[in-house]
Amino acid sequence: MLRARVEPAWLLRSHPVRALATAAPRSAPAAALVSPRPDPLAAGPDPRTRARSRIRERDRTSPPPSVSPALTDSYGRKHDYLRISLTEKCNLRCTYCMPESGVPLLPPDHLLTTDEVERTARLFVQHGVRKIRLTGGEPTIRKDIVDVVERLGRLPLDSLGMTSNGLALPRKLPALVRAGLTHLNLSLDTLDPLKYELMTRRRGFERVMHCLELAQDLKREGLRTKLNVVVIRGLNDMEVPQFVELTRDRDITIRFIEYMPFEDNRWSTQKLVPSASLLSTLASLHLPGTITKLADAASDTTRAYRVEGYKGSFGFISSMTDHFCGTCSRLRVGADGGVKVCLFGPPVLSLRALLRSPTTSDADLMASVGRAVWGKQYAHNGLGGASGIKERGRMGPMVGIGG
Ligand code: 5AD
Ligand code: SF4
Repeated sequence: MLRARVEPAWLLRSHPVRALATAAPRSAPAAALVSPRPDPLAAGPDPRTRARSRIRERDRTSPPPSVSPALTDSYGRKHDYLRISLTEKCNLRCTYCMPESGVPLLPPDHLLTTDEVERTARLFVQHGVRKIRLTGGEPTIRKDIVDVVERLGRLPLDSLGMTSNGLALPRKLPALVRAGLTHLNLSLDTLDPLKYELMTRRRGFERVMHCLELAQDLKREGLRTKLNVVVIRGLNDMEVPQFVELTRDRDITIRFIEYMPFEDNRWSTQKLVPSASLLSTLASLHLPGTITKLADAASDTTRAYRVEGYKGSFGFISSMTDHFCGTCSRLRVGADGGVKVCLFGPPVLSLRALLRSPTTSDADLMASVGRAVWGKQYAHNGLGGASGIKERGRMGPMVGIGG
């Protein structure tokens, strides 16, 4: 149900900074905001173990701290999930993502530095973010990727994930997992090496498959892996049953994602395969077991299923036909520091200037974030369904969005 939009008291006060610092979160003690949790970066070595024991200790002594007003929007949605894009560059040219020539690159000094990424993440975590995902472009292109993960791995997070195409990952993956990476989403849209080249305009199928096997091995170190498949009618929709077959002997999650329109990405309604029709196709096949629905968490964007008797599971991300905006808990920071409160809208705040201004305090910065979050619209940035998104959406290229 939609809630009436009212300005919060803390936004109306003359000193937003002070207002933010003194306003009590809806269900947490005021002290949680007045004196933020101790700086996790100040502690000693072995960041991953420290973060894990801090989470355990936190959960033992009190329930997880709730999300502060700065990350709560006017509909009461609490944002505890932050996606940070580390670069707009990519070593592939997936046709559904960008034109062959790539996307215009940011001037190097517009990219957030490692320190700036770390400060941003720390502030969001202090205000209730529990889950961070690193995206791109392709995040592994960034030379300091292990350092970034190591620094964010010291924060008291429930999960630190990365979305990657897997090409440059095998060499770095063990170090990333040691540094604190807990979740990996690998992009792989076809099981046919030739089609891979057609869809990505580059070679590399074998390397991604190798990365998938490596990621499976790293499960014993705690790494959870999912495979992302963007489904395009006439191109790879016929491979969906084969992907589901991968879950027979592997404890892996495969997510079929509805093709979304981005700038210059050849999207059309004809190419969109609604998840509901994929599910009914799968249900009509003679699979060895019946398809059963699995439980989804409230803020989950995936509707998950399993073929009875199979080790893994599969699911659908139906961003175009079945929005999950009511429980949206996500915010995005682009590689240039642009904050997006909705995937389908433009950045509404630039953190870069604030991060680089010597007079901007942490509280100032979060007050700006708070105003941006408060302005978040209810669904799909107010655009309506698929055609509204295509006609009036201002999403820009996918890599400016953070996957
Ligand atoms: N539609 C849906 N998902 C997309 N991605 C990129 N472009 C699109 C698109 N047009 C997602 C893919 C990829 C991740 C980097 O971004 O899931 O795995
Ligand atoms: Fe690169 Fe991912 Fe875009 Fe493909 S979808 S071009 S791998 S950023």
